[in-house]
Amino acid sequence: MDLITTRTLSKAFIEDILKKAESYEKAARDKKNLTVLKGKTLATLFFEPSTRTQMSFQAAMLRLGGTYLGFSNPKTTSSAKGETLADTIRVVEGYADAIVMRHSVEGAPARAAELTDLPVINAGDGSNQHPSQALLDLFTIRKEKGKIDGQTILLAGDLKYGRTVHSLMYALSHYDVDIQLFSPPSLKMPESIVNDIKDRVSVTETSDFGDADVVYATRVQRERFADPEEYQKSLYTIDESMLAKIKTDAIILHPLPRVKEIAPEVDADPRAKYFEQSFYGVPTRMAILDTLLGGSSE
Ligand code: NCD
Repeated sequence: MDLITTRTLSKAFIEDILKKAESYEKAARDKKNLTVLKGKTLATLFFEPSTRTQMSFQAAMLRLGGTYLGFSNPKTTSSAKGETLADTIRVVEGYADAIVMRHSVEGAPARAAELTDLPVINAGDGSNQHPSQALLDLFTIRKEKGKIDGQTILLAGDLKYGRTVHSLMYALSHYDVDIQLFSPPSLKMPESIVNDIKDRVSVTETSDFGDADVVYATRVQRERFADPEEYQKSLYTIDESMLAKIKTDAIILHPLPRVKEIAPEVDADPRAKYFEQSFYGVPTRMAILDTLLGGSSE
């Protein structure tokens, strides 16, 4: 099985991952290595920059007792010599039991999944999808708010190019939530995604943060802009004055890296949960790897 998109995931699959993630939280926190995936190897192929996603997949593999190999700078690999993705995948097939792949081309991980029988996990493809991030975002909401149902979740920032929010929209659509969208007019959530889920869940545009139980801020995706001026115009910041307008029991999330969207002064506020969120990437990715690589739950 592969994990390419949240669009087609069932609620049962999502709930199973969240339950397993819960069971792995302690090992992740204690940095204790289990033996669930002993003898298994994960290939981490990062054709685009990554800190958290790459390292938390690697940490997750180590915590499960497996190993990893891979690259994070495609310039040092044969793709810089013109090797095709198909050839790279065929070679990696001989070295690893599963593949985690990030690529700037939308659909590249899906193509890789067609080319190999190994499980392939999409760790971000262009502006399209980042499914493991959405699963860890759900896990974070459940941990920090007690439940997902009943929450008003505001997605802010670059809703057009941000793949994390695209994946999160589909993942949230299985729950009884209100989704609010806050973005500059040029960076709105693609209509196709809203249309896909609007029968299951309420999606509205908003201009204030006052109703949100979860504020999910995203980075304006500079690397996807052709026009630097358009990029400058799209920047926004959650700072102290904005904090006063957010509910006292809300949580503030961000997939990170942040640039200017959340001022550093916000970090000390008890509602700021984005660093916890990045930690939850480890137990969630342990759950994903366990599920896809067929380990038995410990
Ligand atoms: C995100 C990504 O790569 O899509 N980062 C991440 O994986 N946590 C968000 C971003 O780059 O803005």
